[in-house]
Amino acid sequence: MNILDIIDKKEKNQKLTKEELEYAVNGFLSGEIKDYQMSAFLTEIDLLGLSDEETLNLTDIMLKSGETLNLGIDTVDKHSTGGVGDKTTIILAPLVASLGVSVAKMSGRGLGHTGGTIDKLESIPGFKTSMSLEQFKNQVKKIQIALVGQMGNLVPADKKIYALRDVTGTVDSVPLIASSVMSKKLASGSNKIVIDLKVGTGALVDNLEDAEALGNLMIKIGKHYHKDTACLLTNMYEPLGLAVGNSLEVIESINTLKGKGPKDVTELVLDLAALMVSMEKGISEEEAKAKALENLQNGKAYHKFLEWVIAQGGNLEGLKTAQNTKTITSSKSGYISKIDALAIGKLARKLGAGRLKEGDEIDPEVGFVLNKKVGDKITEGEALITVYYNDKQVSDEEILNCFEISDYQITPKLIIGKLK
Ligand code: URA
Repeated sequence: MNILDIIDKKEKNQKLTKEELEYAVNGFLSGEIKDYQMSAFLTEIDLLGLSDEETLNLTDIMLKSGETLNLGIDTVDKHSTGGVGDKTTIILAPLVASLGVSVAKMSGRGLGHTGGTIDKLESIPGFKTSMSLEQFKNQVKKIQIALVGQMGNLVPADKKIYALRDVTGTVDSVPLIASSVMSKKLASGSNKIVIDLKVGTGALVDNLEDAEALGNLMIKIGKHYHKDTACLLTNMYEPLGLAVGNSLEVIESINTLKGKGPKDVTELVLDLAALMVSMEKGISEEEAKAKALENLQNGKAYHKFLEWVIAQGGNLEGLKTAQNTKTITSSKSGYISKIDALAIGKLARKLGAGRLKEGDEIDPEVGFVLNKKVGDKITEGEALITVYYNDKQVSDEEILNCFEISDYQITPKLIIGKLK
């Protein structure tokens, strides 16, 4: 076998065998197949797609490229395909844990215009995002919740392939996303998987057709491994909630855990919690959602969050936002018809909230707090957004370009679909 024949076969849109896919993935991992050869192969896949069988085989090969975790505990995992202002995990994990559903989660750092849960949690001074497997399991057993960055050598093939996809314009391929996400979820050992598949300008997928294809494919892969898998398709045309930036998002998460969060964040968290709790406890989604709402309102979810922060060494009193702020106001009256999630994410990164490449330092204190959401009425001179900044700045014009104000009102839909 050789990689040129495999690329050639793919170019002719012929079906690849599992052995051929294995040869490509393992050869790339060992260094025998070079970056330029693998990027040609990934580009062909991006252009021509893969059959479901090929995607299943690719997932299996990636899954077996490294260790898999066996936690020996019944847990439910949730994964977001990434967005702007997406602080969902920080609220959802303690909320479902407060309902007796164990969460043993590995999360990522932010890359590109999207943020990462690990960076957000590390804006809490002292919060530790690494621990031994033994400590991780013990914490889950004791308080039903533990969250760390990458642990063990899980799916090294995805790590290497994802880094190459990131610089070769092949991140948006449906079969490549499906195999990447699902190989990691399967390797981390949860029995049930809930996926928050973001759709919109700030997401990897910006149309419903691709989102449905991706969601259905991930569910099919989950089922193949006997994992109960469900998927919500959710709005990422505008940022989620009002806050974008690490410590600002932790503060918004705390408000939401106290029952005082933005409407969209609260709604999304409740819908995801309903799925996770109903899958784990075998109750209806309505009943699970009612229980989740109760725990947001009665303080139990917030209490579980505090228990979790303390268990991982965090000190909320030290949580800081940038001292310098400026508020941008609207030059006209009307209704907000667009807040470009991608553009806001890129500007937050420019302020220092995100990184361009792995290893870049981030500034946990900077970011934005929106004063308006799509569909809101605004009058001339009213505040649109507040910028929190330290040494890096963005211009008013750059910020204003993220917004569109019209004389008609639109009502955005948060939950675009549900696949099970
Ligand atoms: N998240 C992942 O883990 N992989 C992808 O390919 C896209 C989003």
